[in-house]
Amino acid sequence: MPIFVNNKDEIEFHLTNSSISYIINVLKNGQLGHLYFGKAIKNRESFSHLLSYRACVLAPTTYSDDMSFSLETISQEYPLNGGTDFREEALRIKSIDGSSTSVLVYKSYKIYEGKPPLRGLPSTWGEDNISTLEITLFDKVQEFEVVLSYHLFEKWDTIARSAKITNVGKNNLKIEKALSLSLDFPNSDYEMITFNGAWSRERHINSSPLHPGIQMIESLRGASSANHNPSFVLKDPLTDESCGNAYGISLIYSGNFEALVQVDSYNVARAQIGINTKTFEWNLSSGESFQTPEAIISFSDKGLSGLSQNFHKMVTNNIMNSKYRLSERPVLINNWEATYFDFDEEKLVQLATKAKDIGCELFVLDDGWFGKRNDDTSSLGDWFTNESKLPNGIAATAKAIRETGMKFGLWFEPEMCNEDSDLYREHKDWVIESPNRKKSFGRNQYVLDYSNRKVVDYIFDKMDKIIADTKLDYIKWDMNRNICEPFGSKLKANQQGEFFHRYILGVYDLYDRLTKKYPSILFESCASGGGRFDLGLMYYAPQAWASDDTDAIERLKIQYGTSLFYPLCSMGSHVSAIPNHQVGRKTSLKMRGDVALFGTFGYELDLNQFSDKELNEMREQIDFFKEHRLLLQYGTFHRLISPFEKNNNYVSWMVVSEDKKEAIFASYKILATPNPPLRKIKLKGLDNDTEYIINNRSYMGDELQNIGLSLEPEYSGSGDFDDESKNPGKDFGDFTSQLYTIRAK
Ligand code: DGJ
Repeated sequence: MPIFVNNKDEIEFHLTNSSISYIINVLKNGQLGHLYFGKAIKNRESFSHLLSYRACVLAPTTYSDDMSFSLETISQEYPLNGGTDFREEALRIKSIDGSSTSVLVYKSYKIYEGKPPLRGLPSTWGEDNISTLEITLFDKVQEFEVVLSYHLFEKWDTIARSAKITNVGKNNLKIEKALSLSLDFPNSDYEMITFNGAWSRERHINSSPLHPGIQMIESLRGASSANHNPSFVLKDPLTDESCGNAYGISLIYSGNFEALVQVDSYNVARAQIGINTKTFEWNLSSGESFQTPEAIISFSDKGLSGLSQNFHKMVTNNIMNSKYRLSERPVLINNWEATYFDFDEEKLVQLATKAKDIGCELFVLDDGWFGKRNDDTSSLGDWFTNESKLPNGIAATAKAIRETGMKFGLWFEPEMCNEDSDLYREHKDWVIESPNRKKSFGRNQYVLDYSNRKVVDYIFDKMDKIIADTKLDYIKWDMNRNICEPFGSKLKANQQGEFFHRYILGVYDLYDRLTKKYPSILFESCASGGGRFDLGLMYYAPQAWASDDTDAIERLKIQYGTSLFYPLCSMGSHVSAIPNHQVGRKTSLKMRGDVALFGTFGYELDLNQFSDKELNEMREQIDFFKEHRLLLQYGTFHRLISPFEKNNNYVSWMVVSEDKKEAIFASYKILATPNPPLRKIKLKGLDNDTEYIINNRSYMGDELQNIGLSLEPEYSGSGDFDDESKNPGKDFGDFTSQLYTIRAK
């Protein structure tokens, strides 16, 4: 088992495989110290020589005869409030007398293979090649215990961490802060990469060097949000895509989170992630426990691509918990941008018939099929057929669509209701609002109070009935507004701090019940596009609509940024019509297809508006996708040229099969430039000694990776527009793409 217990007196734990090491020690005051996380080092009987205390005349110390023992200058595993450390704590517990100083002393440990699930929360799972270390700590004054869990996923160089806090005394306690992870680094010479944006421009990459003080991202919206993703990277300044050290941290959670790095006066960096403290409190009565969400950490010395590959493997193998996690995802057609709210059964069947003809496999009926919904002002919550559009009922529509040869999926927004809905008229007290205050609107709708079990039960029953009637193959679960005026009407005054967490537990509960009852349904999560693109929902829904922005150029950034942590098979990506509905841009069908191929792939447009030539082009795209589907969704992804580099006019990436015998390389050009240079791109992930064929030409892997592949020349200004053969370059005009299949001979 790759967990060593060293130095029996001052006990140490060393979790390691051949790539990473994580070392914890028990400090002389009994608290847990942190010795190391990074590239694997050989185990020794003791690592105590690595401990470095530093005396500082004015630092408060734990012992009168040892000036050097100040927690302020010691790396810790799970830092606490009070005591001699003034940096950000991971845990703050308030006792009944108002005191909130804690001292957690080591009590015992347990090591075993595999890992148990977390109750009520999505979490990593699996049995093989997972080793677990549980360390129990005890505070004898406040009388609580903490079990810190570490699960080493040996194959992916990844560790999952969480904390469980139990009140073992007689008095009530209040948890004021309980993060999932705190990780002290010995210095602060890192760059922090975060993924930020807004609706329609999610997960854009921002990178900046650490500086003294706190740099933080967070969400207070009730969802992980489009604004900041609950994940970040720390990397050495010179680390690039393929070389250098990179540390990744992500949270399996979909609600309010905080993620921060604090650089202290001694240039030590403390990285943390967990539930957002600003909107969290939890009452812990005698005998009760609280479980934090899990955080995932990984390290790679093979640059950012190496780190991403660890996460991609981890997410598909040990986080996604759906039978579709490793299987081919269907090519879908979604009617949203094709019809919006304006459809009837005939229109849908016609669209499905055309979609089937070009090769689509799944028809998704989006918003507007229920209640009296003809625009976004009514009916959310009324999960029964909109008979003015579908007079034969949704089950008959499902049957008619299936008769075209397509699978059938439906859109729901289960956490919401409109004022104009039967649900609201019957249960006004089920929406979230603060007593005596006006409710804010968001997209004309209110958020249901999922901290109230009754609400979750009600929605479960409604969805259950529709699913049974229509025998759904797929569900798109949307969430289009954030939570304002937070308040749980069924929670007592002293429980209101629990509201946001209880809300997301309610969401998980509904997901859990539905996915357990209907394991054959493929779930896709969505929150106005990618507003809840996180590992929490990925446990239940193995794909997520990456963004409402379907413009191919914007998608280059969104999908590039998303790929840092999330695998291609998780990214909902569709070809849509031009001018693009979000930005008005016109890009070629080829470009739109070549971008959407690197994801779950589908179409979201009115096929009736396209010529036979265009439909044929789509048919060819789908055939290409089907031929390479496993490679495109589960191959090893390499980012080659970033859209986030300043003034970058090109983007490229590639995906390589596990056995390195097949690859697909894509290069995208944003704007045409006059008289452009010939371009050569060095490929990655291939085998140096293998002969590859690209467009009937033979290349050795070492040539492609060291000399590069010459791209098709771009148009250089001297050709005849109407006669392609006379153009010096086929790559003509703005917004173009080149796609190459690479096969071992
Ligand atoms: C927002 C989603 O992101 C869209 O794809 C679509 O489903 C609409 N909601 C429907 O209201």
